Amino acid sequence: LVNGSDGPVSLKMQTGLWSFDGKIKTPTWGLSQDYMGPVVRTRRGAELALHYENTLAEAVSIHGHGLHVTGELDGGPQRAIRPGTSWSPILPIVQEAATLWYHSHTHKRTGPHVYNGLAGMIVIDDDNSDSLPLPRRYGIDDLPFIVQDKDFNQDGTLLYNKVGLGRFYAEHMTVNGIIQPRVEVPKGLVRLRLLNGSNGRFFNFTFTDTRVFHVIAGDGGFLEEPVEVTTLFVAPGERYELLVDFSDGLPATLRSVQAERGEGTSPAFNPIQGEQTICTFEVNPRIAPDLDVRVPPRLNDIAWLDPKEAHITRHFTMATINRKMVINGRMMDMARIDHRVQKGAVEIWDLDGDVHNFHAHGCSFQVLSINGKTPPAHMKCWKDTVITDAKASFIVRFDHTASDAFPYMFHCHLLEHEDMGMMGQFTVE
Ligand code: C2O
Ligand code: CU
Ligand code: CU
Repeated sequence: LVNGSDGPVSLKMQTGLWSFDGKIKTPTWGLSQDYMGPVVRTRRGAELALHYENTLAEAVSIHGHGLHVTGELDGGPQRAIRPGTSWSPILPIVQEAATLWYHSHTHKRTGPHVYNGLAGMIVIDDDNSDSLPLPRRYGIDDLPFIVQDKDFNQDGTLLYNKVGLGRFYAEHMTVNGIIQPRVEVPKGLVRLRLLNGSNGRFFNFTFTDTRVFHVIAGDGGFLEEPVEVTTLFVAPGERYELLVDFSDGLPATLRSVQAERGEGTSPAFNPIQGEQTICTFEVNPRIAPDLDVRVPPRLNDIAWLDPKEAHITRHFTMATINRKMVINGRMMDMARIDHRVQKGAVEIWDLDGDVHNFHAHGCSFQVLSINGKTPPAHMKCWKDTVITDAKASFIVRFDHTASDAFPYMFHCHLLEHEDMGMMGQFTVE
């Protein structure tokens, strides 16, 4: 954890050695550490100064996923940091409390870069998040929870070869870089800042004892009210904050199970690939619970955008044509601007085609529908990534500018699809 208010955060892209299983050392990449980067904590109203330095042998772009900043500061493929050089953006944090992340967004190399470890979490606090009676003891009852799948060669090196027209699925589930960890928690409420940081795997999380938990936040901020669930479907790039109650003192194991068709959030093809154990929680009576925390009935006031105010609807059809992954028939071209958005105008973005996982830069949006249905209650918050389940639509307003030189991206957040060209660019002026 690094606190952005303590001065510029140094994020050095470097090679490292990391043990996913506590035994074998695996060559990895990280940002100022062996594998992945630190959790960067900042707050609304602050200016977050980052200093990226590339000590790797290839160029890297690093993007702040979910950050409301201009195209210049967004870290898209145009902002490549060449080997031996650095980039020091100062990011004005204007958005509400949320759990975001940063990750490589390098032209055609995002998948392998994120897989090797070029990713980390960003936590934004604000007055509202400070005032809510939520667990906030970092590492004790407020835990970053980055879930990824990994495969290994015989010699312990990372295996990344399941690419092709399909997606990347690996055999070993990791949380914060540890294969199926055991975590000790207090006998009380625990907050998980869940990030699906996988390249291409969807998860449908549930506890083996099917205990109820609460979703309190999504990609871009808190829900208005907590939503009680027993399973939660999470696509790559999405974040949710959960409250899990361990006051019964019983251990619990988080698993991912096959999603059922027709939930509105489960894609047409098999996205889960069986059942996986993710993490085991054990209650440690010596860790004092925070007696002031509870599940608050009210979390946030969201300014809902009105579809009647939308001045344009844009259509995005995501498809595979002649083995090329395209949006509206076109593959990513860094020299082409696909859309020109007017700053401050409300728009509807309408997605269809095959099942993909759509993400747009420079904004948070509100999901209007998934596969023709109203989205599930836990998606009624600001989001920036949504599974299309063949069809989806959202309403959005872009409040920051992005120029021809540093446009924003929209793309499938299955990283292999992004690398294969399922991405486009837009300006906001
Ligand atoms: Cu998470 Cu365009 O990225
Ligand atoms: Cu992004
Ligand atoms: Cu896709």
